[in-house]
Amino acid sequence: MKLVHVENYDEMSMQAARTVFDKITSSERVVLGLATGSTPEKMYDYLVDMLNKNKVDLSHVYTVNLDEYVGLDADHPQSYHQYMNRIFFDRVDIPKNHTFLPNGAAENLEDEVAEYEKLIEELGGVDLQILGIGRNGHIAFNEPGTAFDSETHVVDLTETTVNDNARFFDTIDEVPKQAISMGLSTIMNAKSIVMMASGEEKADAITAMMEGEVDESLPASILQRHHDVTVIADRKALREG
Ligand code: F6R
Repeated sequence: MKLVHVENYDEMSMQAARTVFDKITSSERVVLGLATGSTPEKMYDYLVDMLNKNKVDLSHVYTVNLDEYVGLDADHPQSYHQYMNRIFFDRVDIPKNHTFLPNGAAENLEDEVAEYEKLIEELGGVDLQILGIGRNGHIAFNEPGTAFDSETHVVDLTETTVNDNARFFDTIDEVPKQAISMGLSTIMNAKSIVMMASGEEKADAITAMMEGEVDESLPASILQRHHDVTVIADRKALREG
């Protein structure tokens, strides 16, 4: 794993945006794997600015998101569909029919997960995958104990994750308890991966991911087996004072 040390959240966001921008502008066709959550928010801001200021043509860009909550319609304000529209898709000219997220409101979830996995394959796989990390070492919604060979699947969220997400909902009962998530093998199929981490609450997970055993108890540790991972982490996430 390549580690890029940065000062703070702002610098992490700028560096990650620059990496995505370079990938977009140097490719004839590109499939981006995208993440939601707090970590990439400012990265999207920087990326939107870079793309718009440079009037970059985006007709060659395709995106697939890591995950979506089960039970939320695409137009629910807390759905990842809405997050992506608000923070990225509505602000740039990527053709809307090139952007994909799992359908958490699908009637048949088993069909949905299989179709999502097939879609990624048909797009030719992910060229650059953006990741954040959970305090418990999860990536996408692959919680501790998820099989390393998992493909896109339905996940029961842990209490930690449900509690972490509660800040976005009025009551704990409204917080979804399941999600559709790319699996760990789906993520490992990406040609290159950028993991972003900011803040001391991520420090234990980042240390274990980079230095600990590769074990299903820490899903992100599987990234040690990928040949092209860049970790962009700030001083707090690296416990550098
Ligand atoms: C989001 C995702 C999650 C988050 C992780 C960290 O698409 O896949 O794994 O990256 O939960 O969340 P934040 O960035 O909110 O700390």
